[in-house]
Amino acid sequence: MNLIDQIKENARKNKQRIVLPESHEERTLKAADIILNEGIADIILIGNRDKILNQAEALGLKNMGKASLVDPATYEKKEAYANMMVELRKSKGLTKDEALMLLQNPLYFATVMIKYGDADGEVAGADNATGDVLRPAFQYVKTLPGITVVSGAFLMFLKDKEYGENGLMVFADCAVHPDPTDRELAEIAVATAKTTRAIAGIEPRIAMLSFSTKGSASHEMVDKVVRATRIAKEMSPDIKIDGELQADAAIVASVGLKKAPGSEIAGKANVLIFPNLECGNISYKLVQRLGHAEAIGPVLQGMAAPINDLSRGCSVGDIVDLIAITANQAIGSN
Ligand code: ACO
Repeated sequence: MNLIDQIKENARKNKQRIVLPESHEERTLKAADIILNEGIADIILIGNRDKILNQAEALGLKNMGKASLVDPATYEKKEAYANMMVELRKSKGLTKDEALMLLQNPLYFATVMIKYGDADGEVAGADNATGDVLRPAFQYVKTLPGITVVSGAFLMFLKDKEYGENGLMVFADCAVHPDPTDRELAEIAVATAKTTRAIAGIEPRIAMLSFSTKGSASHEMVDKVVRATRIAKEMSPDIKIDGELQADAAIVASVGLKKAPGSEIAGKANVLIFPNLECGNISYKLVQRLGHAEAIGPVLQGMAAPINDLSRGCSVGDIVDLIAITANQAIGSN
């Protein structure tokens, strides 16, 4: 069984409630139909009941009767949701009227549902930009205890099985936080360790990447990675992590031995933490395109509940996979 099939199987065994705010979106509806048919998760669709059912019928979808359909215009908990929002955003001066207005936006409604305990995770972004999906999540679901920054990991399935864990590596942050501080970079490493265990199903060996290996260069950018490695060890003493390492020292055994002798990570890393978003985003795309790797993600991590953002170019299959991954994250955080 491949990893995605295992992830779906795991989701089936402990069904989670995944909310899909983009119920008007054709690929999302088709993915919801597959998820319901295969029993991978319980699905909540946000929107007008008649509109959803008519569109599903026009698309020939047979399983929509199994979904929970929630219309923000008439939902009985709307008042309670608005009260909770006002309480959570007291310091920002949010009024009840403003909260009720925000609840008309399905992206806000979905995240508030999660915060209230009425859903376990969310997948959106087939029809909305990353910032629009993430902002409500940052504001209402917020981050895990001890974590202040959300980041995005990619599962990279490499053609060359000699790297990582039989060709599987996890890269982060490739999607969210442009310029992390040392502390934030450490949080990204700790959160990625959790994702690696929960989703990739492997024990993380984390390399904190730089253009320097063990002091071969000196620069404040290198110092940041050294400090982040130390902070990550303090935050999570059980994780296997080393840095600063260059990419070749991290993944090639002979180079690791030469440049970082005695390191338990050098030459054996299966998780790569990039010093900033430019490096992470560019690297995953180059490995994907030039190295013909399969890239699954971004899996958003560090949030208090799993909320994942699709690319607007996603396929129905991508949405199905991300719903299954989100359900696994929800199981992991239960
Ligand atoms: N983690 C946790 N909370 C955050 C984060 C973060 N990484 N970033 C912002 N926040 C919080 C802020 O603290 C703030 O909270 P508050 O309202 O309670 O004070 C709230 O979110 C809004 O903060 P803003 O600074 O206004 O954030 P903004 O909405 O402008 O930006 C965003 C956030 C959209 C994620 C921005 O950082 C961004 O654009 N990142 C890059 C995303 C991107 O383009 N990625 C590459 C493409 S994805 C791909 O290729 C796969």
